[in-house]
Amino acid sequence: MKNIVVLVSGGGTNLQALIDAQKAGKIKNGKITCVISSNPNAYALQRAEANGIDTAVIRRKDYAEFSEYSSALISLLNDKKADLIVLAGFMTILGEDVIKAFKNRIINIHPSLIPAFCGEGFYGLKVHECALQRGVKVTGATAHFVNEVCDGGPIILQKAVAIENGDTPEILQKRVMEQAEWKILPMAVALFCDDKIKVINDKTTEILD
Ligand code: GRF
Repeated sequence: MKNIVVLVSGGGTNLQALIDAQKAGKIKNGKITCVISSNPNAYALQRAEANGIDTAVIRRKDYAEFSEYSSALISLLNDKKADLIVLAGFMTILGEDVIKAFKNRIINIHPSLIPAFCGEGFYGLKVHECALQRGVKVTGATAHFVNEVCDGGPIILQKAVAIENGDTPEILQKRVMEQAEWKILPMAVALFCDDKIKVINDKTTEILD
């Protein structure tokens, strides 16, 4: 059984999707053992507590140097015996040392079809604003491993979502979450916990039985 540690900063709807998938028996070989927040007021912490999941808070501003923050985060993740780290709306950039310490063991969910509308500055509503501005007809979400390049790690799963007439960034954000993010993130986590993801040359393949 793999220990899953989820990193959050806000509302935690993706965390909720993971909790629901776990309850539904869809993550057979993993267990959410801890939720770590960058923000003590994140509603995601309440979701964790309501489900009896251990929580912790680690704030960048409590450390003078970024390297000290990174070391503290690595120690915390090691203390929690994390096998898999899931970034579910975690708003603090991870340092290279954290990424190296957990190579191909950190999964992020991004609200677009990478490589469109991703990279530095593309987070939250901005992603959907840009998709609408460009006039794409299809967008979606991507679950990927985290490497040193922002949104550049090996892609695990993607799901497309149609853009509809009259969409606003807010409406599109909601549809992308409901139709894509909340579905593929638990699926990617389940695949990882089942040891079904192989990474070769920065590309993943699913190991079939
Ligand atoms: C999601 O849109 C996710 O794609 C992005 O941050 C948002 C988090 O939302 N990385 P929530 O906290 O899971 O509700």
